[in-house]
Amino acid sequence: MADMKINLCGVELNNPIIMASGTFGFGREMAAYNDLSRLGGISSKGITRNPRPGNPTPRIAETPSGCINSVGLENPGVEKFIERELPFMKSLDTGVIVNVSGSSVEEYCETVELVCAAGADMIELNISCPNIKGGGMAFGTSAEPAAGVVKEVRKVCTLPLMVKLSPNVADIAAIAKAVEGEGADAVSLINTLSAMAIDARTRRPILKQIMGGLSGPAVKPVALRMVYQVSQAVKIPVVGLGGVTTGIDAAEFMICGASAVMVGTANLMDPYSCVRIVDELNDYLDEMGIGSAAELVGTLMV
Ligand code: FUM
Repeated sequence: MADMKINLCGVELNNPIIMASGTFGFGREMAAYNDLSRLGGISSKGITRNPRPGNPTPRIAETPSGCINSVGLENPGVEKFIERELPFMKSLDTGVIVNVSGSSVEEYCETVELVCAAGADMIELNISCPNIKGGGMAFGTSAEPAAGVVKEVRKVCTLPLMVKLSPNVADIAAIAKAVEGEGADAVSLINTLSAMAIDARTRRPILKQIMGGLSGPAVKPVALRMVYQVSQAVKIPVVGLGGVTTGIDAAEFMICGASAVMVGTANLMDPYSCVRIVDELNDYLDEMGIGSAAELVGTLMV
């Protein structure tokens, strides 16, 4: 059996497979289906300083090989999260990542400071949510604001700091380098691609917000390309996501340079998918005679 353990920014994870933020809340619903200690980690739904009801419905549209969401960061706010949800996450024998979003630098800093005081394994700073007005992706689509928010958050963040990047940019490697330069410990990519779906008969958009973010197998080739570009450009670890539904998909991301892999939309299709993907990745490593998951990282032959 291959050694599946990996070290991500000093945090020992059981394996490279992490449940991605946004396709569940804080782990309870997925724990009903899975032994979450079988995973490398879980990343919470995006948390903001204050509670958010999210956007009006409809806010999910199924598309060929994917889905578009415009959820709008529905969450209970950081204080209720820390009181009601974080203790459950921390009771699981898996890596605990808290995904933090915001509309201003101050909001990001306050939320991160509170989470760090409460304790977790890692922060995932979400500068790539396409579904909120002001903030979110606005910080992640050019290097200067991305670097600016990371610089301020770094001052208050006592945990490993991973920054979640947007694919809705011309040069994602430049943004990754900018956040690395301000002290990010890792980057995760990709968040969703800006997208829309319409009904030709009603001539109306499917989503109330008109636009949302596309995820699922349809985006995997774009995600692989970006993970490869970013891993060539930075020295910090890259966590890859975008359409992973099998262990072979996970292996492809690792070959392109990802130290760990997140699984998102697959959870909506099959709530058991993450544990299956761990087993499939393990089988792949054994079949290929590769002794450890870490050995696979960045082995693309070009
Ligand atoms: O709308 C949302 O809650 C999505 C968040 C994200 O893509 O980061």
